[in-house]
Amino acid sequence: MSVSRGGFSSRIGFIMAAAGSAVGLGNIWGFPTQTASNGGAAFVLVYLVLAFFLAYPAFMAELLIGRFGQANAVTSMQKMSRTAAQKKFAFFVGFGGIICAALILSFYGVFAGWMMSFAIEPIAILLGSDSAQWFVSQSIFRNLLFTTLFMFLTIFIIRSGVENGIEKWSKRLMPVLIVLLVSLIIYVVTLDGAAEGLNAYLNPDFSRIFEPDLLISAMGQAFFSLSLGTSVMIIYGSYISKEENLVTLGAQVTLIDVSIAFLAGLLVIPAMYVAQAQGVVIFAEDGSLISGSSLIFTVLPALFDSMGSMGLFVGFAFFILMSIAALTSSISMLEGPVSYAVERHDMPRSKATLLIGLGILVLSTIIVLNISFMLDFVATLATQYGQPIIAMLCCIFVGWIWHRNEILTEIKKGYGEVENSLFWKIWPIYTKFICPTAIGVVFIHSL
Ligand code: PFF
Repeated sequence: MSVSRGGFSSRIGFIMAAAGSAVGLGNIWGFPTQTASNGGAAFVLVYLVLAFFLAYPAFMAELLIGRFGQANAVTSMQKMSRTAAQKKFAFFVGFGGIICAALILSFYGVFAGWMMSFAIEPIAILLGSDSAQWFVSQSIFRNLLFTTLFMFLTIFIIRSGVENGIEKWSKRLMPVLIVLLVSLIIYVVTLDGAAEGLNAYLNPDFSRIFEPDLLISAMGQAFFSLSLGTSVMIIYGSYISKEENLVTLGAQVTLIDVSIAFLAGLLVIPAMYVAQAQGVVIFAEDGSLISGSSLIFTVLPALFDSMGSMGLFVGFAFFILMSIAALTSSISMLEGPVSYAVERHDMPRSKATLLIGLGILVLSTIIVLNISFMLDFVATLATQYGQPIIAMLCCIFVGWIWHRNEILTEIKKGYGEVENSLFWKIWPIYTKFICPTAIGVVFIHSL
């Protein structure tokens, strides 16, 4: 299934890579955290609906742009444009997505570095090291060291290209991630207090379902999770063979992404109640469940500490899980800008990867040095503004600029009968009207 510029060698290769991009800290950290602070299962329900009815159609739009264009985000969108104005618009949207991916990677790498250093702490304890505490204490040096390490891992994989880098590593890491996640769930749900956590997670408080804040958070979470508005799914789409059925491939990736978020909730929320049974405080002063970074870096480590030597293994497994999830996502973020530099500026891949990776590392360093302001600023800029706007513009591009017949011809490759399918009856209307409007309304509301 290889295409001339390199591509995924198999269907499973694409599924693992795209699911690897989608499944990340957003699923294992963001989703349970949002669920905890937005009324438990009510949030889960809204999230599922939005993921399939809003994020999936937008995801399909991005995959199709890439598969049609067989190139980086800007070139692909320009191939669909007919007028000079449309070409400029294509540049704005495609390049905007690439910048968005780079910005996300700059702060994501900092978080990922924390995950790696928390994974090393239990090893340091086992080795009897006096400095184990250093790995779990905030310091500029630790943050810089681990962010740099993480960025070099990302650069190392992306340098090797699509098949030997992205595909190979996604196929190795994703199964490990799933095994770790399921093993941790099986262990945690057997502990005292877990039943109460499952109850809190799975019992919806329906009264909250239409709260605007809940809708905004669920949409943001769904878009972040499917890596939309970042050019990533465009470039991954461009590496898929024309023989593949994109409609089912997209649905499979969405299903994996949503399922892993759901599973992560089954781990993290019960773990919080297990921690409570061990005497750890899990409610904030206003009565809500502790969320955000305190959940991952205070509550859960306190739980692991209370488990004695078993806690060392559980803590290690948990933070390795987080690090793997972060790595398969970060490689996709770097691929967006790298493919642009390689294809538009004729740069050798290894040089482009190193230069762009180091450029993003400089940005991460600025974030680390001004963490209290910059972390939040860059994250808000990229995920609350950049991603929804670019994702919305991609839908507008597909719905209003690309000819319906051309779209049909593209989807028919790999799915000859699509014309008679439910997908073709609904999806074009969705991308033309519903997705841009819904994203726009939620976005304006969030301001
Ligand atoms: N989808 C990833 C997550 O849920 O953690 C985050 C992400 C990956 C965002 C790739 C943007 C991106 F381009």
